[in-house]
Amino acid sequence: MQNPVLSQQQNQEKQLVAAAALRWVQDGMQVGLGSGSTAAYFIFFLGEAVRAGKLRVEAVATSLVSENLARQAGIPLFEPRKGTRLDLTVDGADELDAELRLIKGGGGALLREKILATASRRVLILADSSKVVPQLGRFPLPLEVVPFALPWVLDTLEKLQANPILRSDRQNTNEAARTDQENLLVDCHFVQLPDPAQLARQLEAIPGVVAHGLFLGLAHTALVAQGEQVLVYKPGEAPRSIAEFIELP
Ligand code: A5P
Repeated sequence: MQNPVLSQQQNQEKQLVAAAALRWVQDGMQVGLGSGSTAAYFIFFLGEAVRAGKLRVEAVATSLVSENLARQAGIPLFEPRKGTRLDLTVDGADELDAELRLIKGGGGALLREKILATASRRVLILADSSKVVPQLGRFPLPLEVVPFALPWVLDTLEKLQANPILRSDRQNTNEAARTDQENLLVDCHFVQLPDPAQLARQLEAIPGVVAHGLFLGLAHTALVAQGEQVLVYKPGEAPRSIAEFIELP
């Protein structure tokens, strides 16, 4: 079950937090399933618990890849309806800071990830130790862009000094990457990202930008692995060992 692209330590840390996240899942919950390698481990462990009859849940996924993983793992999927509020969404992140502001979308699933995070009562983020940063911005900020709008979106991004780069498809690098919605992905390489809230407003004002990878005020808790330890992060609080928690935050 190891992801061959990652270092052994990263794989171990991702598995550690993914297994720890099961404590947050209760019987009967409607769960949002994230995307990326850490979320994939969580889907695997959740599937084990479901198949063993330890947990009954139903889930909706943030990407077609995660939806397939959930199906293979034996996790029942459901179609969200008007009024659906998920009990919990469990997802990874590309970067997180002490306020639990995130950069997401490295895997291209940012739009559905944001939709499910917004539709959830609680959002639990899983991360290996490499993801915690003092200030957001080291990781390129992804945008999902409607193809028709691309030239004008790029013009506006250049004015914002975003150094935008259209993402290529991983398998066929001559082609642009496409999201599950058939939109394009643009990665922004800001030199600095001092005010994420202001930048989020600027990006939201660009016609054709369907979603940006800044997740501000959406994550309630993060589990971050540091070697063999799991730390619990809450916005603006010092991280604490998971061993300190009887009641889960
Ligand atoms: C997917 O679009 C991203 O938001 C992922 O959550 C993020 O890239 C984390 O991925 P890993 O868990 O693979 O590090």
